[in-house]
Amino acid sequence: MTKGRQRDNASVAESAVSLYDCAAMKQSASFPLASRAPSSVDEDATHFGFETVRLSEKQGKVDEVFHSVAAKYDVMNDVMSAGLHRLWKDALVAQLRPAQNRPFRHLDVAGGTGDVAFRILEAAGDKTHVTVLDINASMLGVGAERAQKRHLPGQIDFVEASAEALPYPDKTFDGYTIAFGIRNVPRIPLALSEAFRVLKTGGRFLCLEFAPVDTPVFDKLYDTYSFNLIPAFGKAITGDGESYRYLVESIRKFPRPDAFARMIGEAGFRRVTHRALSGGIVNIHSGWKL
Ligand SMILES: C[S@@+](CC[C@H](N)C(=O)[O-])C[C@H]1O[C@@H](n2cnc3c(N)ncnc32)[C@H](O)[C@@H]1O
Repeated sequence: MTKGRQRDNASVAESAVSLYDCAAMKQSASFPLASRAPSSVDEDATHFGFETVRLSEKQGKVDEVFHSVAAKYDVMNDVMSAGLHRLWKDALVAQLRPAQNRPFRHLDVAGGTGDVAFRILEAAGDKTHVTVLDINASMLGVGAERAQKRHLPGQIDFVEASAEALPYPDKTFDGYTIAFGIRNVPRIPLALSEAFRVLKTGGRFLCLEFAPVDTPVFDKLYDTYSFNLIPAFGKAITGDGESYRYLVESIRKFPRPDAFARMIGEAGFRRVTHRALSGGIVNIHSGWKL
């Protein structure tokens, strides 16, 4: 960790906007939103789905996708996975095993509408606090409304920030999760090194993410479903088929599980493992800060 990085993170921390805190929610229903997208002069090429774009352009395009689909995001998840995403998220939280009887501070990055955070709070003891961090105010807004209905005073907050520049000091959290988020982040190694930085020694990193499927026959069926039906469902339900085309394409561009596991190790994590679910459609990646 360089001094420069520490200064950067400190300055982001100073200006972090907590979008929702259940205690504060009782007093006010509206929240100041401020963009936390990182600025960069790096113009290297990357991909946005199958399209090649400049690194500095990718986040803006990703943000458009999630602003567009936020209101119907949860319904679409159920439709396009036939409810399976619920089981995958349950498996993620079962693997996390949040503490029952001691304080446990958790960060759910790219947490969107709060699905993983709510599961963690259900599984954990009442000394657990979860921060849902996401770069997209529309997704967080849906999550904040859901949290309000669940009455979770003091146990959850929503923060608008980037996975690439977490607004927290080193060694803040006991656990870090990111579900279906990492493939949308432009600089994945940077997000992984931020995850490592903010975890306490002994803290756990878990990532739930799709993987390209290459099992013969199954891959053809999966491709047919993904490239034809998912964008069609997306158009019918959210009015935006193109966003769902991006989400499908981005799965094909994401590294295979072994390659992604190596990236997790390169960020400093130890005892790195991954476990395939549903025939390898998704994987849970695990690493420890030791
Ligand atoms: C597919 S959604 C996943 C939401 C939630 N984790 C779930 O599993 O339902 C991906 C999320 O990643 C967020 N995201 C994209 N780029 C990000 C970044 N650089 N930092 C933090 N969140 C980001 C998006 O705004 C979106 O909410």
